[in-house]
Amino acid sequence: AHAARVLVASNRGPVSYVFREDGTLDARRGGGGLVSGLSAIGPETDALWVCSALGDGDREAVRRKIGEPGVRMLDIDAAVHSDAYNGIANSVLWFVHHMLYQTPLEPVFDAEFRRQWVAYEAYNQAFAQALAESAAPAAVVLVQDYHLALVPGMLRDLRPDLRIGHFSHTPWAPPEYFRMLPDDIAEQLLLGMLGANRLGFLTQRWLEAFQSCCHRVLADHDVDPHRPKDGPPSLEYRLPGHRRRRTELGVHGLGADADFLRERSRRTDVDERMAALREQIGGGAHGPGSRKTIVRVDRTELSKNIVRGLLAYRTLLDEHPEWRERVVHIAFAYPSRQDLAVYREYTAEVSRVAEEINARYGTPGWTPVLLHVKDDFARSLAAYRMADVALVNPVRDGMNLVAKEIPVVSEAGCALVLSREAGACAELGDDALVVNPYDVTGTAGALHRALSMPDTERAERGKRLAAAATALPPQRWFLDQLNALEALDEGVAEPG
Ligand code: G6P
Repeated sequence: AHAARVLVASNRGPVSYVFREDGTLDARRGGGGLVSGLSAIGPETDALWVCSALGDGDREAVRRKIGEPGVRMLDIDAAVHSDAYNGIANSVLWFVHHMLYQTPLEPVFDAEFRRQWVAYEAYNQAFAQALAESAAPAAVVLVQDYHLALVPGMLRDLRPDLRIGHFSHTPWAPPEYFRMLPDDIAEQLLLGMLGANRLGFLTQRWLEAFQSCCHRVLADHDVDPHRPKDGPPSLEYRLPGHRRRRTELGVHGLGADADFLRERSRRTDVDERMAALREQIGGGAHGPGSRKTIVRVDRTELSKNIVRGLLAYRTLLDEHPEWRERVVHIAFAYPSRQDLAVYREYTAEVSRVAEEINARYGTPGWTPVLLHVKDDFARSLAAYRMADVALVNPVRDGMNLVAKEIPVVSEAGCALVLSREAGACAELGDDALVVNPYDVTGTAGALHRALSMPDTERAERGKRLAAAATALPPQRWFLDQLNALEALDEGVAEPG
Protein backbone atom coordinates (compact mmCIF):
# COMPACT_ATOMS: atom_id res chain seq x y z
CA ALA A 1 0.00 0.00 0.00
CA HIS A 2 1.41 3.40 -1.01
CA ALA A 3 0.19 5.13 2.10
CA ALA A 4 2.71 6.69 4.42
CA ARG A 5 3.71 10.34 3.92
CA VAL A 6 6.57 10.19 6.43
CA LEU A 7 8.72 7.09 6.91
CA VAL A 8 11.59 6.31 9.24
CA ALA A 9 13.95 3.39 8.63
CA SER A 10 16.39 1.90 11.11
CA ASN A 11 17.83 -1.49 11.92
CA ARG A 12 16.66 -1.42 15.54
CA GLY A 13 13.03 -0.52 16.08
CA PRO A 14 11.30 0.93 19.15
CA VAL A 15 10.53 -2.48 20.67
CA SER A 16 11.91 -5.96 20.47
CA TYR A 17 10.18 -9.15 21.50
CA VAL A 18 11.49 -11.87 23.76
CA PHE A 19 9.87 -15.19 24.62
CA ARG A 20 8.40 -15.62 28.09
CA GLU A 21 8.62 -19.03 29.77
CA ASP A 22 5.11 -19.87 28.59
CA GLY A 23 5.93 -19.10 24.94
CA THR A 24 4.09 -15.77 24.78
CA LEU A 25 5.98 -12.67 23.68
CA ASP A 26 7.10 -9.79 25.87
CA ALA A 27 7.78 -6.37 24.26
CA ARG A 28 10.90 -4.54 25.45
CA ARG A 29 12.14 -1.04 24.72
CA GLY A 30 15.28 -0.96 22.57
CA GLY A 31 18.53 0.56 23.91
CA GLY A 32 20.90 3.15 22.42
CA GLY A 33 20.72 6.77 21.41
CA LEU A 34 18.92 6.26 18.11
CA VAL A 35 15.90 4.57 19.64
CA SER A 36 15.67 6.93 22.65
CA GLY A 37 15.78 9.89 20.29
CA LEU A 38 13.31 8.57 17.76
CA SER A 39 10.91 7.11 20.34
CA ALA A 40 10.49 10.57 21.84
CA ILE A 41 8.92 11.82 18.64
CA GLY A 42 5.72 10.10 19.56
CA PRO A 43 2.89 8.68 17.53
CA GLU A 44 1.31 12.08 16.73
CA THR A 45 3.53 12.50 13.68
CA ASP A 46 1.79 9.58 11.97
CA ALA A 47 5.06 8.24 10.63
CA LEU A 48 5.62 4.64 9.58
CA TRP A 49 8.73 3.22 11.26
CA VAL A 50 10.32 0.43 9.20
CA CYS A 51 12.80 -1.68 11.18
CA SER A 52 14.30 -5.14 11.17
CA ALA A 53 13.39 -8.23 13.15
CA LEU A 54 16.51 -8.74 15.28
CA GLY A 55 16.01 -12.08 16.95
CA ASP A 56 13.76 -15.12 17.15
CA GLY A 57 11.24 -13.28 19.31
CA ASP A 58 10.89 -10.51 16.73
CA ARG A 59 10.55 -13.02 13.90
CA GLU A 60 7.82 -14.85 15.79
CA ALA A 61 6.06 -11.52 16.42
CA VAL A 62 6.07 -10.85 12.67
CA ARG A 63 4.65 -14.33 12.03
CA ARG A 64 1.94 -13.86 14.67
CA LYS A 65 1.25 -10.37 13.31
CA ILE A 66 1.90 -8.82 16.73
CA GLY A 67 3.21 -5.30 16.59
CA GLU A 68 2.98 -1.67 17.52
CA PRO A 69 0.86 0.65 15.42
CA GLY A 70 3.00 2.59 12.98
CA VAL A 71 5.80 0.02 13.04
CA ARG A 72 6.59 -2.40 10.21
CA MET A 73 9.14 -5.02 11.14
CA LEU A 74 10.95 -6.71 8.26
CA ASP A 75 11.64 -10.41 8.59
CA ILE A 76 14.93 -10.55 6.71
CA ASP A 77 16.59 -13.97 6.44
CA ALA A 78 18.43 -14.53 9.74
CA ALA A 79 21.76 -15.46 8.13
CA VAL A 80 21.65 -12.44 5.83
CA HIS A 81 20.78 -10.19 8.76
CA SER A 82 23.57 -11.58 10.89
CA ASP A 83 26.21 -11.06 8.18
CA ALA A 84 24.95 -7.53 7.55
CA TYR A 85 24.45 -6.51 11.20
CA ASN A 86 27.14 -8.41 13.12
CA GLY A 87 29.56 -8.78 10.23
CA ILE A 88 29.54 -5.53 8.27
CA ALA A 89 27.65 -2.94 10.33
CA ASN A 90 28.99 -3.69 13.81
CA SER A 91 32.38 -5.30 13.08
CA VAL A 92 33.43 -3.06 10.19
CA LEU A 93 31.50 0.19 9.85
CA TRP A 94 31.14 0.78 13.61
CA PHE A 95 34.84 0.00 14.08
CA VAL A 96 35.83 2.37 11.29
CA HIS A 97 33.75 5.30 12.53
CA HIS A 98 34.83 4.80 16.16
CA MET A 99 38.41 3.98 15.16
CA LEU A 100 38.40 0.80 17.25
CA TYR A 101 40.69 -1.49 15.27
CA GLN A 102 43.88 -2.89 16.77
CA THR A 103 45.62 -2.10 13.51
CA PRO A 104 48.64 -4.45 13.62
CA LEU A 105 46.21 -7.34 13.06
CA GLU A 106 42.93 -5.76 12.03
CA PRO A 107 41.08 -5.15 9.80
CA VAL A 108 41.47 -7.93 7.23
CA PHE A 109 39.35 -7.42 4.13
CA ASP A 110 39.30 -10.87 2.57
CA ALA A 111 36.87 -13.25 0.86
CA GLU A 112 34.81 -13.60 4.05
CA PHE A 113 34.37 -9.84 4.17
CA ARG A 114 33.27 -9.82 0.52
CA ARG A 115 30.74 -12.54 1.25
CA GLN A 116 29.31 -10.52 4.16
CA TRP A 117 29.26 -7.41 2.02
CA VAL A 118 26.90 -9.15 -0.42
CA ALA A 119 24.59 -9.81 2.54
CA TYR A 120 24.83 -6.16 3.57
CA GLU A 121 23.74 -5.17 0.07
CA ALA A 122 20.82 -7.62 0.17
CA TYR A 123 19.72 -6.37 3.59
CA ASN A 124 19.84 -2.75 2.41
CA GLN A 125 17.92 -3.75 -0.72
CA ALA A 126 15.21 -5.35 1.43
CA PHE A 127 14.75 -2.04 3.27
CA ALA A 128 14.73 -0.04 0.04
CA GLN A 129 12.08 -2.38 -1.38
CA ALA A 130 9.87 -2.16 1.71
CA LEU A 131 10.14 1.63 1.84
CA ALA A 132 9.37 1.91 -1.87
CA GLU A 133 6.24 -0.21 -1.31
CA SER A 134 4.98 1.77 1.69
CA ALA A 135 5.69 5.37 0.71
CA ALA A 136 3.02 7.67 -0.67
CA PRO A 137 3.93 9.77 -3.73
CA ALA A 138 6.54 12.43 -2.86
CA ALA A 139 6.72 11.12 0.74
CA VAL A 140 9.63 11.96 3.04
CA VAL A 141 11.86 9.07 4.13
CA LEU A 142 14.36 9.41 6.99
CA VAL A 143 16.93 6.62 6.86
CA GLN A 144 19.00 6.09 10.02
CA ASP A 145 22.61 5.14 10.58
CA TYR A 146 25.45 3.04 9.21
CA HIS A 147 23.39 -0.14 8.93
CA LEU A 148 21.47 1.40 6.07
CA ALA A 149 24.10 3.44 4.22
CA LEU A 150 23.18 2.00 0.82
CA VAL A 151 19.43 2.51 1.18
CA PRO A 152 19.27 6.12 -0.06
CA GLY A 153 20.82 5.31 -3.44
CA MET A 154 18.82 2.08 -3.84
CA LEU A 155 15.57 3.76 -2.87
CA ARG A 156 16.16 6.67 -5.19
CA ASP A 157 16.51 4.27 -8.11
CA LEU A 158 13.20 2.66 -7.17
CA ARG A 159 11.31 5.83 -6.30
CA PRO A 160 12.81 9.04 -7.70
CA ASP A 161 9.75 10.98 -6.46
CA LEU A 162 10.64 10.56 -2.76
CA ARG A 163 12.52 13.05 -0.60
CA ILE A 164 15.16 10.99 1.09
CA GLY A 165 17.18 11.94 4.15
CA HIS A 166 19.88 9.95 5.89
CA PHE A 167 21.10 10.60 9.42
CA SER A 168 24.32 9.31 11.03
CA HIS A 169 24.13 8.75 14.79
CA THR A 170 27.81 7.83 14.91
CA PRO A 171 30.97 9.86 14.48
CA TRP A 172 32.36 9.94 10.95
CA ALA A 173 35.92 8.70 10.45
CA PRO A 174 38.61 11.01 9.09
CA PRO A 175 39.73 10.04 5.56
CA GLU A 176 43.04 8.52 6.73
CA TYR A 177 41.05 5.99 8.74
CA PHE A 178 38.02 5.62 6.45
CA ARG A 179 40.32 4.71 3.57
CA MET A 180 41.28 1.48 5.30
CA LEU A 181 38.12 0.20 3.60
CA PRO A 182 38.74 -1.25 0.14
CA ASP A 183 38.45 1.57 -2.41
CA ASP A 184 35.42 0.15 -4.19
CA ILE A 185 33.57 -0.38 -0.90
CA ALA A 186 34.43 3.11 0.37
CA GLU A 187 33.12 4.55 -2.89
CA GLN A 188 29.96 2.48 -2.82
CA LEU A 189 29.19 3.56 0.74
CA LEU A 190 29.62 7.26 0.05
CA LEU A 191 27.69 7.15 -3.21
CA GLY A 192 24.95 5.12 -1.52
CA MET A 193 24.51 7.79 1.13
CA LEU A 194 24.77 10.60 -1.40
CA GLY A 195 21.72 9.07 -3.08
CA ALA A 196 19.84 10.96 -0.37
CA ASN A 197 18.62 14.50 -0.96
CA ARG A 198 19.99 15.45 2.42
CA LEU A 199 22.48 13.99 4.90
CA GLY A 200 22.42 14.78 8.61
CA PHE A 201 25.17 14.55 11.24
CA LEU A 202 25.21 15.15 14.98
CA THR A 203 28.05 17.68 14.98
CA GLN A 204 30.00 19.87 12.58
CA ARG A 205 33.07 17.71 13.23
CA TRP A 206 31.46 14.56 11.81
CA LEU A 207 29.99 16.45 8.86
CA GLU A 208 33.40 17.84 7.94
CA ALA A 209 35.00 14.41 8.20
CA PHE A 210 32.34 13.09 5.81
CA GLN A 211 33.06 15.90 3.36
CA SER A 212 36.79 15.17 3.51
CA CYS A 213 36.11 11.49 2.80
CA CYS A 214 34.05 12.44 -0.24
CA HIS A 215 36.88 14.60 -1.58
CA ARG A 216 39.47 11.89 -1.15
CA VAL A 217 37.46 8.82 -2.14
CA LEU A 218 35.30 10.32 -4.89
CA ALA A 219 38.13 12.13 -6.65
CA ASP A 220 36.79 10.92 -10.02
CA HIS A 221 33.38 12.44 -9.39
CA ASP A 222 34.36 16.13 -9.39
CA VAL A 223 33.08 16.74 -5.87
CA ASP A 224 32.32 20.40 -5.47
CA PRO A 225 31.29 21.83 -2.09
CA HIS A 226 28.80 24.70 -1.93
CA ARG A 227 28.76 26.93 1.11
CA PRO A 228 26.23 29.64 0.42
CA LYS A 229 26.09 32.55 2.89
CA ASP A 230 22.44 31.99 3.59
CA GLY A 231 21.28 28.44 3.26
CA PRO A 232 22.68 25.02 4.00
CA PRO A 233 25.94 23.63 2.65
CA SER A 234 25.80 20.95 -0.01
CA LEU A 235 28.01 18.74 -2.11
CA GLU A 236 27.72 18.61 -5.86
CA TYR A 237 29.22 15.68 -7.74
CA ARG A 238 29.10 13.87 -11.05
CA LEU A 239 27.35 10.55 -11.55
CA PRO A 240 28.14 8.05 -14.31
CA GLY A 241 26.69 9.43 -17.55
CA HIS A 242 27.87 12.98 -16.75
CA ARG A 243 24.76 13.96 -14.80
CA ARG A 244 25.48 16.17 -11.82
CA ARG A 245 23.63 15.89 -8.56
CA ARG A 246 23.58 17.88 -5.38
CA THR A 247 23.10 16.56 -1.84
CA GLU A 248 22.42 18.92 1.02
CA LEU A 249 24.27 18.51 4.33
CA GLY A 250 23.07 19.50 7.79
CA VAL A 251 24.05 19.34 11.45
CA HIS A 252 21.30 18.37 13.86
CA GLY A 253 22.31 17.91 17.46
CA LEU A 254 20.06 15.56 19.39
CA GLY A 255 19.18 16.63 22.93
CA ALA A 256 17.49 15.06 25.93
CA ASP A 257 13.71 14.96 26.22
CA ALA A 258 13.25 16.98 29.42
CA ASP A 259 9.49 16.55 29.80
CA PHE A 260 9.60 12.80 29.37
CA LEU A 261 12.62 12.33 31.66
CA ARG A 262 11.29 14.53 34.47
CA GLU A 263 7.90 12.84 34.48
CA ARG A 264 9.21 9.28 34.06
CA SER A 265 11.91 9.63 36.71
CA ARG A 266 9.40 10.64 39.38
CA ARG A 267 7.27 7.51 39.21
CA THR A 268 7.11 5.10 42.11
CA ASP A 269 9.09 2.32 40.42
CA VAL A 270 12.02 4.75 40.28
CA ASP A 271 11.51 5.71 43.96
CA GLU A 272 11.69 2.02 44.84
CA ARG A 273 14.93 1.55 42.90
CA MET A 274 16.38 4.60 44.68
CA ALA A 275 15.62 3.11 48.07
CA ALA A 276 17.32 -0.14 47.04
CA LEU A 277 20.37 1.70 45.73
CA ARG A 278 20.62 3.76 48.94
CA GLU A 279 20.70 0.51 50.84
CA GLN A 280 23.60 -0.72 48.67
CA ILE A 281 25.47 2.58 48.94
CA GLY A 282 25.19 2.50 52.70
CA GLY A 283 26.86 4.93 55.06
CA GLY A 284 23.72 6.87 55.95
CA ALA A 285 22.46 8.12 52.61
CA HIS A 286 20.87 11.31 53.97
CA GLY A 287 22.71 13.64 56.35
CA PRO A 288 25.96 15.50 55.79
CA GLY A 289 28.13 12.42 56.24
CA SER A 290 26.50 10.65 53.32
CA ARG A 291 28.49 9.15 50.50
CA LYS A 292 28.86 10.88 47.18
CA THR A 293 28.02 9.05 43.97
CA ILE A 294 29.81 8.87 40.62
CA VAL A 295 27.30 7.52 38.10
CA ARG A 296 27.79 6.04 34.67
CA VAL A 297 25.25 4.22 32.48
CA ASP A 298 26.26 2.66 29.18
CA ARG A 299 25.76 -0.20 26.85
CA THR A 300 28.77 -2.46 27.45
CA GLU A 301 30.30 -1.02 24.36
CA LEU A 302 33.97 -0.91 23.38
CA SER A 303 33.79 2.78 22.48
CA LYS A 304 32.31 3.75 25.87
CA ASN A 305 35.67 3.21 27.57
CA ILE A 306 34.24 1.65 30.72
CA VAL A 307 37.46 -0.10 31.72
CA ARG A 308 39.55 3.08 31.68
CA GLY A 309 36.75 4.75 33.65
CA LEU A 310 37.11 2.10 36.35
CA LEU A 311 40.89 2.47 36.30
CA ALA A 312 40.46 6.23 36.78
CA TYR A 313 38.24 5.54 39.78
CA ARG A 314 40.85 3.14 41.18
CA THR A 315 43.49 5.85 40.70
CA LEU A 316 41.27 8.30 42.57
CA LEU A 317 41.02 5.93 45.55
CA ASP A 318 44.78 5.42 45.37
CA GLU A 319 45.88 9.01 45.12
CA HIS A 320 43.13 10.55 47.22
CA PRO A 321 42.56 8.08 50.05
CA GLU A 322 40.37 10.69 51.72
CA TRP A 323 37.59 9.56 49.34
CA ARG A 324 37.64 5.97 50.57
CA GLU A 325 34.37 5.16 52.31
CA ARG A 326 33.02 8.54 51.17
CA VAL A 327 32.22 7.81 47.54
CA VAL A 328 30.52 5.01 45.60
CA HIS A 329 30.86 4.45 41.87
CA ILE A 330 27.50 3.34 40.45
CA ALA A 331 28.33 1.73 37.11
CA PHE A 332 25.54 0.28 34.99
CA ALA A 333 26.90 -1.56 31.98
CA TYR A 334 24.13 -3.21 30.01
CA PRO A 335 24.95 -6.11 27.68
CA SER A 336 25.20 -5.16 24.04
CA ARG A 337 26.07 -6.97 20.80
CA GLN A 338 26.87 -10.17 22.65
CA ASP A 339 27.00 -12.16 19.40
CA LEU A 340 30.45 -10.62 18.91
CA ALA A 341 33.33 -12.25 20.80
CA VAL A 342 35.15 -8.95 21.43
CA TYR A 343 32.06 -7.59 23.16
CA ARG A 344 31.76 -10.68 25.34
CA GLU A 345 35.42 -10.37 26.28
CA TYR A 346 35.04 -6.68 27.02
CA THR A 347 32.00 -7.38 29.21
CA ALA A 348 34.04 -9.90 31.19
CA GLU A 349 36.91 -7.43 31.55
CA VAL A 350 34.57 -4.75 32.93
CA SER A 351 33.40 -7.18 35.64
CA ARG A 352 36.92 -8.34 36.38
CA VAL A 353 38.25 -4.81 36.96
CA ALA A 354 35.22 -3.81 39.07
CA GLU A 355 35.64 -6.91 41.25
CA GLU A 356 39.33 -6.25 41.62
CA ILE A 357 38.68 -2.72 42.89
CA ASN A 358 36.10 -4.02 45.35
CA ALA A 359 38.44 -6.75 46.57
CA ARG A 360 41.31 -4.32 47.04
CA TYR A 361 39.59 -1.34 48.65
CA GLY A 362 36.23 -2.59 49.91
CA THR A 363 35.46 -2.74 53.63
CA PRO A 364 32.67 -4.54 55.47
CA GLY A 365 30.50 -1.40 55.31
CA TRP A 366 31.56 -0.06 51.92
CA THR A 367 31.48 -1.47 48.38
CA PRO A 368 33.44 0.98 46.20
CA VAL A 369 31.88 -0.06 42.85
CA LEU A 370 28.24 -1.04 42.38
CA LEU A 371 28.33 -2.70 38.97
CA HIS A 372 24.96 -3.77 37.59
CA VAL A 373 24.61 -5.45 34.23
CA LYS A 374 20.92 -6.30 34.04
CA ASP A 375 19.18 -3.69 31.91
CA ASP A 376 16.66 -1.79 34.04
CA PHE A 377 15.49 1.63 32.80
CA ALA A 378 13.82 2.60 36.10
CA ARG A 379 17.03 1.81 38.00
CA SER A 380 19.04 3.88 35.51
CA LEU A 381 16.75 6.83 36.22
CA ALA A 382 17.13 6.23 39.96
CA ALA A 383 20.90 6.45 39.60
CA TYR A 384 20.52 9.61 37.49
CA ARG A 385 18.51 11.21 40.30
CA MET A 386 21.18 10.34 42.85
CA ALA A 387 24.16 11.47 40.77
CA ASP A 388 26.64 13.93 42.28
CA VAL A 389 29.08 13.26 39.47
CA ALA A 390 28.34 11.79 36.03
CA LEU A 391 31.19 10.01 34.24
CA VAL A 392 30.94 9.88 30.43
CA ASN A 393 34.36 9.10 28.95
CA PRO A 394 33.95 7.42 25.53
CA VAL A 395 36.98 7.13 23.26
CA ARG A 396 34.66 8.35 20.50
CA ASP A 397 30.90 8.87 20.43
CA GLY A 398 28.48 10.39 17.93
CA MET A 399 26.68 12.38 20.63
CA ASN A 400 26.11 10.47 23.92
CA LEU A 401 22.65 11.09 25.30
CA VAL A 402 23.50 9.87 28.81
CA ALA A 403 25.74 12.93 29.21
CA LYS A 404 22.67 15.02 28.55
CA GLU A 405 20.15 12.97 30.51
CA ILE A 406 21.95 12.78 33.87
CA PRO A 407 22.20 16.58 34.44
CA VAL A 408 18.48 16.90 33.64
CA VAL A 409 17.42 14.26 36.17
CA SER A 410 20.04 14.66 38.93
CA GLU A 411 18.29 16.06 42.02
CA ALA A 412 21.15 17.99 43.55
CA GLY A 413 22.59 19.04 40.19
CA CYS A 414 25.64 17.09 39.09
CA ALA A 415 29.13 17.71 37.84
CA LEU A 416 29.89 16.08 34.51
CA VAL A 417 33.24 14.52 33.67
CA LEU A 418 33.05 14.37 29.89
CA SER A 419 35.30 13.05 27.14
CA ARG A 420 36.33 15.58 24.55
CA GLU A 421 35.72 12.86 21.94
CA ALA A 422 31.96 12.75 22.56
CA GLY A 423 29.80 14.78 20.19
CA ALA A 424 28.00 16.12 23.27
CA CYS A 425 31.18 17.95 24.25
CA ALA A 426 30.51 20.51 21.52
CA GLU A 427 27.37 21.53 23.41
CA LEU A 428 28.28 20.81 27.05
CA GLY A 429 32.01 21.57 27.05
CA ASP A 430 31.70 24.93 28.83
CA ASP A 431 30.31 23.52 32.06
CA ALA A 432 31.65 19.96 32.00
CA LEU A 433 35.07 18.88 33.24
CA VAL A 434 36.51 17.84 29.90
CA VAL A 435 38.96 14.94 29.71
CA ASN A 436 41.14 13.09 27.25
CA PRO A 437 39.55 9.62 27.47
CA TYR A 438 42.89 7.79 27.18
CA ASP A 439 44.39 9.73 30.08
CA VAL A 440 43.46 7.70 33.15
CA THR A 441 45.44 9.96 35.50
CA GLY A 442 43.79 13.04 34.02
CA THR A 443 40.35 11.47 34.34
CA ALA A 444 41.05 10.60 37.98
CA GLY A 445 42.03 14.23 38.55
CA ALA A 446 38.77 15.41 36.99
CA LEU A 447 36.80 13.02 39.22
CA HIS A 448 38.58 14.48 42.24
CA ARG A 449 37.77 18.03 41.12
CA ALA A 450 34.15 17.09 40.48
CA LEU A 451 33.80 15.56 43.94
CA SER A 452 35.62 18.43 45.67
CA MET A 453 33.66 21.19 43.97
CA PRO A 454 31.59 23.33 46.36
CA ASP A 455 27.95 22.21 46.31
CA THR A 456 26.78 25.59 45.02
CA GLU A 457 29.17 25.48 42.06
CA ARG A 458 28.16 21.92 41.25
CA ALA A 459 24.49 22.87 41.39
CA GLU A 460 25.00 25.92 39.17
CA ARG A 461 27.01 24.04 36.60
CA GLY A 462 24.42 21.27 36.72
CA LYS A 463 21.67 23.73 35.97
CA ARG A 464 23.52 25.17 32.96
CA LEU A 465 24.34 21.66 31.74
CA ALA A 466 20.67 20.71 31.94
CA ALA A 467 19.69 23.80 29.96
CA ALA A 468 22.24 23.07 27.22
CA ALA A 469 21.28 19.38 27.20
CA THR A 470 17.62 20.09 26.50
CA ALA A 471 18.10 22.90 23.98
CA LEU A 472 17.40 20.54 21.07
CA PRO A 473 14.65 18.15 22.11
CA PRO A 474 14.16 15.10 19.88
CA GLN A 475 10.86 16.47 18.54
CA ARG A 476 12.72 19.48 17.18
CA TRP A 477 15.57 17.31 15.83
CA PHE A 478 13.00 15.34 13.86
CA LEU A 479 10.87 18.24 12.66
CA ASP A 480 13.87 20.29 11.54
CA GLN A 481 14.91 17.45 9.26
CA LEU A 482 11.40 16.93 8.00
CA ASN A 483 11.02 20.62 7.21
CA ALA A 484 14.41 20.80 5.51
CA LEU A 485 13.49 17.89 3.26
CA GLU A 486 10.07 19.28 2.47
CA ALA A 487 11.62 22.64 1.62
CA LEU A 488 13.92 21.13 -1.01
CA ASP A 489 12.65 21.90 -4.45
CA GLU A 490 13.27 19.34 -7.13
CA GLY A 491 15.62 21.70 -8.96
CA VAL A 492 18.00 21.91 -6.02
CA ALA A 493 17.87 18.20 -5.41
CA GLU A 494 18.87 17.29 -8.95
CA PRO A 495 20.25 20.09 -11.05
CA GLY A 496 20.92 19.52 -14.75
C1 G6P B 1 24.18 3.25 18.57
C2 G6P B 1 23.77 3.23 17.12
C3 G6P B 1 22.32 2.80 16.98
C4 G6P B 1 22.10 1.49 17.72
C5 G6P B 1 22.55 1.60 19.17
C6 G6P B 1 22.40 0.29 19.94
O1 G6P B 1 23.52 4.26 19.26
O2 G6P B 1 23.96 4.52 16.54
O3 G6P B 1 22.00 2.64 15.62
O4 G6P B 1 20.75 1.11 17.68
O5 G6P B 1 23.90 2.00 19.18
O6 G6P B 1 23.12 -0.73 19.32
P1 G6P B 1 22.41 -2.04 18.80
O7 G6P B 1 23.45 -2.77 17.99
O8 G6P B 1 22.00 -2.78 20.03
O9 G6P B 1 21.23 -1.63 17.99
